Amino acid sequence: MTASPTSASAATTLSGLFSQHHRHCDEAFAAAEKAVSGGDWAVAETAFDTFSTDLLAHFAAEEEQLFPAFEAASGMTGGPTSVMRHEHVQMRGLLANARQALADRDADAFLGETDTLLILMEQHNLKEEGVLYPMCDAHLAPRAAELLERCAAALGTM
Ligand SMILES: [Fe+2]
Ligand SMILES: [Fe+2]
Repeated sequence: MTASPTSASAATTLSGLFSQHHRHCDEAFAAAEKAVSGGDWAVAETAFDTFSTDLLAHFAAEEEQLFPAFEAASGMTGGPTSVMRHEHVQMRGLLANARQALADRDADAFLGETDTLLILMEQHNLKEEGVLYPMCDAHLAPRAAELLERCAAALGTM
């Protein structure tokens, strides 16, 4: 597999960094689905591992870096970040189901789980990119540079 052409180091805003990483995860997801559809289980395992690692790193960067910083700066702890955290839990569940289907070599079950995951992921990312990330940029402007560096390191795409 070739490396993603997108580079997180080019991002100058938190919104840009995390949106770029959504695209990166989308590409890894597409590669895993394609491999399973093609019936190459060895390639599928590797592609799914890459996607899973990327997505879990994304959730961790949001839950451990971005969201706490936003909550502290805005005072909003029960709003959009709590909805996003809840959706991460749902997506982690689907990811675990897909991993099990992959271990069982059950392509239909795998694609069923990942179809649901894709819909959730698309809706989730739209909300983050349209609402939450711009709010993060606005509230976190004074410490954007420091957070950008920490979040990029957590995403692991530098
Ligand atoms: Fe998220
Ligand atoms: Fe995200």
